[in-house]
Amino acid sequence: MDRIRIVGGHRLNGSIPISGAKNATLPLMIASLLTDETLVLENVPRLADVALLQRILGNHGVDVMIGGKRPGDTEYEGQTVHISAKRIVDTMAPYELVAKMRASFWVIAPLVARMGEARVSLPGGCAIGTRPVDLLVMALQQLGAEIEIDRGYVVARAPKGLKGGKIVFPKVTVGGTHTALMAATLADGDTVIENAACEPEVGDLADCLNKMGAKITGAGTPTINVTGVRRLSGARHRVLPDRIETGTYAMAVTMTGGDVLLEGARPELLQAALDVLAETGAEISSTNAGVRVARNGSGLAPVEVTTQPFPGFPTDLQAQLMALMTLAAGTSRITETIFENRFMHVQELARLGAQIRLEGETASIEGVPRLNGAPVMATDLRASVSLVIAALAAEGETVVNRVYHLDRGFERLEGKLAACGAEIERLAHA
Ligand code: UD1
Repeated sequence: MDRIRIVGGHRLNGSIPISGAKNATLPLMIASLLTDETLVLENVPRLADVALLQRILGNHGVDVMIGGKRPGDTEYEGQTVHISAKRIVDTMAPYELVAKMRASFWVIAPLVARMGEARVSLPGGCAIGTRPVDLLVMALQQLGAEIEIDRGYVVARAPKGLKGGKIVFPKVTVGGTHTALMAATLADGDTVIENAACEPEVGDLADCLNKMGAKITGAGTPTINVTGVRRLSGARHRVLPDRIETGTYAMAVTMTGGDVLLEGARPELLQAALDVLAETGAEISSTNAGVRVARNGSGLAPVEVTTQPFPGFPTDLQAQLMALMTLAAGTSRITETIFENRFMHVQELARLGAQIRLEGETASIEGVPRLNGAPVMATDLRASVSLVIAALAAEGETVVNRVYHLDRGFERLEGKLAACGAEIERLAHA
């Protein structure tokens, strides 16, 4: 398994191109199952999760073609992917594939909406707390699907098609909202989704579905209305920039000091996180080219932050903020309200010298004057990148083991950081 070696202490200067959002790409690719025409997605990031979803869709009979480079394209530009679910040959998503990536469970919605049946494995255990699918199942039931749990599989049936209905989520769920949206587009009649997730990726999915002929209003607000249509067509859609990648590099620059333009980043997608960074002492400015983050000389101020659904501070940046706060002048408090157990990075940050105390869902981080490099282990996607951020500012060498988590969600991580002056390299498995 590959490892990443980092020698800390270098300031970051230059620019980093921001890739298309992983968390938008996955539901957009899954939405291709709703139509027998071709869906063309632009700005798709080169990530292990995207390649895995390609395999999962292939299992259902979907053809995925990755477009060649056009004149003027650089290798850094996102891919253009043509996805065609002309004929669905299998409505079953097996355990071996779904267990590798939770989001693949979402195929259940377009499959039952278009084919009248789906058999999708329960996602199984996950490193960041219990992540049930009860609300996704509830949403499908509200649209008339009959649900049965059979030997670890969720079987959804709607032989006469789904019917519009009212879905009230007791808790904000991104996956639940994606699932409800996709299913409702082909249901007979009107659907109202209440307490919907307002994450920008939901808006991106709704925009694409509307281009495909769906009738969705209110995406991006807590109440979404969908009027079902008989069929959807192909479309062309550009994936929005990755706000988590943006926030991650913004935190890296704040931690090491320096001045970096995050090219193509859109500040409104992560305003809460940028506000927190400004509070810690970073200078943030936005231009047409993207978001510029700088910190020169000044110390880092501690902060108190609670993760919240959008537009609040995202749980997917919690580990990275914790890495940053290990060097703050004082005590920070970070409360995680979205996922229980999303603190696996705490033990590994401690190996670099961080002082963190956990009490229930709150971590108190006592800032230390310096971190020292050490071998560490990545445990999940966001936790792994928090170790990279800490290592960039630590004295000496850090080797991050098990970096396949990083490849799931960060495109060319070491290349992007090295171009700004970081001493970082990938050590291929011997
Ligand atoms: C998505 C993101 C993930 C992000 C998360 C929260 C993708 C591919 N992943 O995950 O990066 O961290 O949103 O912003 O977009 N819940 C239930 N029952 C359900 C579904 C969810 O209780 O049926 C709970 C979860 O356990 C969690 C909360 O709801 O406590 C939010 O989860 P959810 O928004 O659904 O996360 P995902 O869509 O899986």
